[in-house]
Amino acid sequence: MNAKLLFSAVLFGLSLQIAACGRSDISFSADVQPILEVACLECHNDTGEGIAASGFSVVDYAAVMRGTTLGPAVIAGSSMSSTLYRVVAGKTDPEIRMPPHHDESLAEGRGLSLGAEQIEIIGTWIDQGAKDN
Ligand code: HEC
Repeated sequence: MNAKLLFSAVLFGLSLQIAACGRSDISFSADVQPILEVACLECHNDTGEGIAASGFSVVDYAAVMRGTTLGPAVIAGSSMSSTLYRVVAGKTDPEIRMPPHHDESLAEGRGLSLGAEQIEIIGTWIDQGAKDN
């Protein structure tokens, strides 16, 4: 097999792997935290309206794992049981979708749902054990 063929075979194998099991290497600090910082931190910091209303902070890993006043927001290994995933993936009552879908913020271009890839990154990170990595 020549080098070019071998290279395409390897690439093909890789893309199959990615398609089969999603991304295999989600990192909290490199992948998840930047999403939370852009889309959530303004309200879920130490003083914002999100933490005031729910107790949920995204300032760091420990805060995310502490969860809300009602309990954990992340159930390691199960995105479908995790409030953090459910609120961004549209699996809750529209009233508690995150970021909040208020007409006025949408009109200003804020409060848009996360993109499919960002939602998948958060879900995969939880399914992989919600590690502090
Ligand atoms: C504009 C401010 C704002 C932004 C931005 C925001 N939130 Fe919230 N969040 C709130 C408020 C207000 C509540 C309380 C809502 C309620 O319980 O009805 C809340 C509640 C929550 C809860 C608790 C829900 C529950 O039922 O226990 C979670 C989890 C959450 N937000 C996650 C996020 C995530 C993740 C993001 C980013 C993708 C985000 N929020 C962005 C304001 C915000």
